[in-house]
Amino acid sequence: MNALVTYQVEDNLALIGLVRPPVNALGQPLRAAILEACERAAADPAVKALVLHGANGLFSAGADISEFGSDASFAAPDLPSLLLRLTRLDKPLVAAIGKLALGGGLELALACGYRIGEPGTRVGLPEINLGLLPGAGGTQRLPRLIGAKAALDMMLSGTPASADRARALGILDRLSTSTESLLDEACAYARELIDSQAPARPAASFPAPAVGLPEDFLARFRQDNEPRWKSRLAPRLVLSAVEAACLLPLEEGLAREVALFKQAEASAQSQALRHVFFAEREAGKVPGIDASTLLRPIRKVAVIGAGTMGGGIAMNFANVGIPVTLLERQGQALDRGLSQIRNNYGISVKRGKLTEAKLEQRMALLTGTLDYADLADADLVIEAVFEKMEIKQEVFRTLDRVCKPGAILATNTSSLDVDQIAAVTSRPQDVIGLHFFSPANVMRLLEVVRGRETAPDVLATTLKMGRTIGKMPVVSGVCFGFIGNRMLEPYAREAHRLVLEGATPSQVDGVLTGLDLNMGVFSMLDLAGVDVNFLVRDSNRAAFAHDESYCRLGDELYALGRYGQKTGRGFYAYEGRNRQDDYEVVALAERLAGELHVPRRPIGDQEIHDRCLFMLINEGIQLLDEGIALRASDIDLVWINGYGFPAHLGGPMYYAEQLGLDKVLAGINHFRQALGEYGEMWFQPAPLLERLVAAGKTRIETI
Ligand code: CAA
Repeated sequence: MNALVTYQVEDNLALIGLVRPPVNALGQPLRAAILEACERAAADPAVKALVLHGANGLFSAGADISEFGSDASFAAPDLPSLLLRLTRLDKPLVAAIGKLALGGGLELALACGYRIGEPGTRVGLPEINLGLLPGAGGTQRLPRLIGAKAALDMMLSGTPASADRARALGILDRLSTSTESLLDEACAYARELIDSQAPARPAASFPAPAVGLPEDFLARFRQDNEPRWKSRLAPRLVLSAVEAACLLPLEEGLAREVALFKQAEASAQSQALRHVFFAEREAGKVPGIDASTLLRPIRKVAVIGAGTMGGGIAMNFANVGIPVTLLERQGQALDRGLSQIRNNYGISVKRGKLTEAKLEQRMALLTGTLDYADLADADLVIEAVFEKMEIKQEVFRTLDRVCKPGAILATNTSSLDVDQIAAVTSRPQDVIGLHFFSPANVMRLLEVVRGRETAPDVLATTLKMGRTIGKMPVVSGVCFGFIGNRMLEPYAREAHRLVLEGATPSQVDGVLTGLDLNMGVFSMLDLAGVDVNFLVRDSNRAAFAHDESYCRLGDELYALGRYGQKTGRGFYAYEGRNRQDDYEVVALAERLAGELHVPRRPIGDQEIHDRCLFMLINEGIQLLDEGIALRASDIDLVWINGYGFPAHLGGPMYYAEQLGLDKVLAGINHFRQALGEYGEMWFQPAPLLERLVAAGKTRIETI
């Protein structure tokens, strides 16, 4: 028998185990092996039922993503045909779903007439995250099993369901009492089916998946959700496939699904999202550390500063059951911080995402203190105090005195030099930067800043810790602003300058949100605080001193006390969260342009796109050349997870590759000339970009 499956016949049962580590991805060789094993069982008169299981404990993570875009994806037997054949076996087929069945893995289970999971099983259709739809019958069989509404929710969220939820929905017929007993209980189930002469497949629960739903359900669903989808293709294709499930007989629906799947697979958005999938896995691979690097245990965490940032950071650890000591200088600030955390959890309770009991459990993991001595037994200390070098250094001197040997000392600075902070301690090897993004309990990005002397095990431990608390950790070297904020600087600079030259904040933001970015530059600055941005800029003023016009509009708004949303006025005027263009800002831009002798003119959207994006891309390429970022795809992850760059564009580096590196370079050179003295000052192509184009490269890499 093929080495990718095990095959055993025991008392009328054929046990077929999938053996394709690490996740039983359903590439062509495994598909062929499953088909061969099932045909063998079908042809054996001694076999009365089949049990399909993951021989390594995990059922399957779905189609082999690395096959997409190549002929292998549809090489015989393709997944839809294999599953169709399984549905036509005339013997009961039980799927024993260990750990997880995702995407094509769940579709494989749905092609089996009967399904049993274990208590920790998760099942889901996450194809949407890859810009795809379930393409092997999922869009047709799931609505027939659990109804169109629940199936749509699963497919559009991409979030896997727990075993209990899957059982309640009817995706799982049974749950085993334990992980260990799953296969035995699956066999017992199969024997019961044989004994009761059960049909090979039970009748569909929802032969008409839309039954019970209002007639205009799908039309309204589309209308309500389309604005959220922006320009994403996959949700629309999922909805079309579910429409087909509601309107067409199964076979026609399956054919429609294949056509829609092929459209999705060939789309630029899906290619970009597949790039992001592999980028996320690559980001964990860091020179100097590997699986043999011993990790330091993290059983207790301390956070210094109970403000918005410190509180958010603390919540991440409480959420995964790790006790946190929260340190403040004054009792009032500490009480405020703790009650803010309780409020945040309270919002989750109100939204039905957390129970009261869980809220109390999490709060019980948080202890406040005013005394550094209480940090003595912490394994990881994260400092989140005011962004000023002297203050941070003072905190680290104290930590060096009070913390136990081997404790990891992390700074949550967003721009300062981690090496200078480490230098005030006697243990720079234990110091690292952990740059969380606000709100720290929500945002997925975690920049892990490796100092000159940071020890490999400190880096490995914090990367692992980051994943444990649900973050996307990306390693950065030390420089002002690290990867994300350093790239933000030229991007925001261009946005400011464009307004001086004649664009409006809403025009600039509109071009960026038109690309599906979550927010434009000015909305983001108003949200984060014009004052906060000013202070960061001010701490690095010398670097921009040669340009009088540099972010002058932001400086003036700061001087006017227009700090953004929190003061009701910034680049925009606000009523609550509703923003409006503000004539005063336009007038201010006109006045400043006059004073600075910046000619004003109508600015086209293409120019806004090119100047903001090309400067962003150029800085990213420079960071790669300097070795601050390990690879171009890490930069993509930073901007997708920390700055709202749309994942379906693949991140700024991937986006540049799609635009064409030669075009980006030509654009930068064009503006260097077209913008006169200003262009000469700022539109300098990164040397790596020039080398890449000269070498005819289309991908961004170091050469
Ligand atoms: N295809 C190919 N490779 C896969 C894979 C898949 N479906 N799922 C995971 N892998 C690979 C990863 O790339 C990684 O490889 P390396 O070690 O070489 O980097 C390895 O398996 C382990 O994966 P993770 O590092 O992600 O391990 P994890 O334990 O953190 O997570 C997982 C495991 C939850 C399965 C996660 O990998 C995951 O979410 N995978 C994708 C699942 C998915 O999207 N399935 C749908 C596929 S599309 C489909 O099925 C279409 C269809 O309808 C036919």
